[in-house]
Amino acid sequence: MKLLVTGGAGFIGSNFILYVLDRYPCDRIVCLDKLTYAGNLFYLEKAKNNPRFSFVKGDICDKTLVKQLFAKEKFDTVVNFAAQSHVDRSIISSAEFINTNVYGVSVLLDACVEHGVARFHQISTDEVYGQSLTDIPFTEASPLNPSNPYSASKAAADMLALSYYKTHGLNVTVTRSTNNYGPHQHTEKLIPRLIANAYLGKRLPLYGDGSNIRDWLYVTDHCAAVDTVLRNGKAGGIYNVCARNERTNLDIARLVCSKTGIGEERISFVPDRKGHDKRYFVSDEKIRSELGWQPQTDFETGFSITVDWYKNNF
Ligand SMILES: NC(=O)c1ccc[n+]([C@@H]2O[C@H](COP(=O)([O-])OP(=O)(O)OC[C@H]3O[C@@H](n4cnc5c(N)ncnc54)[C@H](O)[C@@H]3O)[C@@H](O)[C@H]2O)c1
Repeated sequence: MKLLVTGGAGFIGSNFILYVLDRYPCDRIVCLDKLTYAGNLFYLEKAKNNPRFSFVKGDICDKTLVKQLFAKEKFDTVVNFAAQSHVDRSIISSAEFINTNVYGVSVLLDACVEHGVARFHQISTDEVYGQSLTDIPFTEASPLNPSNPYSASKAAADMLALSYYKTHGLNVTVTRSTNNYGPHQHTEKLIPRLIANAYLGKRLPLYGDGSNIRDWLYVTDHCAAVDTVLRNGKAGGIYNVCARNERTNLDIARLVCSKTGIGEERISFVPDRKGHDKRYFVSDEKIRSELGWQPQTDFETGFSITVDWYKNNF
């Protein structure tokens, strides 16, 4: 495969690039990334001298640059990780979320059609379904009901990408994953922030009473799911991805305390996020039964690797 990986200097994209380079000796990857505050070339250190990898600094919204890159590189596959990804920032201002997460996706999709790219994979999120109010999990057929500007922009991108399958016959797939954890995540996100604050002697802030529930998927398991869908998923297919590993935010903070050897009195509660979804609950039956994917990393192991990585790198 000749892949374009957009947003590959961010958390999940960088892990995905390393995953693919390690496993597929014939695959070549170009990473296009704007290097916003969330992108960091340090995450791609292991790839930088690989002759099958190259990096281009640029914006997926820049039509001219994207067209030139597609014409030059003749990709057969595009995997789009590029996004504004932090809900709190989208609550303060949504414009950049619409720009990158929706308009940027349209630029990539148009380039795929124009240059005859065979595959487009969109990285989405369980947040597009909105919060779960019952114990019946969302399936891929559940209606989208996003609660915040971030998830609304991701839902729009999903619909846009899938419309290119219906309209242009572009082989599009979408994965909707739960929360990821692991190395390379920006410290604005819950787990890295709690770990960093633990080591810096600061308080561990939790929204509300800490009872919000998330499913936590180790990042490499997400990369494996994306890879599985990319190579074997059905055209036009949507696949939920989860770890079946739900925890409250308070559970996570307590685990950080125990792994870093600090007292739980360091946990503090701060005013809740506006429109904070209580829980997302998705079914991953489809990807398990259709494609045989399942997560490989148990939470204890993945969490210890994560804590060690932040201890050694920040
Ligand atoms: N982190 C999670 O738990 C999670 C869960 C489900 C889905 N997702 C989705 O996975 C994808 C990747 O998330 P992440 O956590 O790695 O995000 P991230 O914020 O760590 O990384 C995003 C990357 O995209 C780049 N980028 C941003 N705007 C760009 C633009 N206009 N042009 C080119 N590059 C740009 C950034 O520089 C950064 O390297 C996103 O689409 C996100 O919605 C994330």
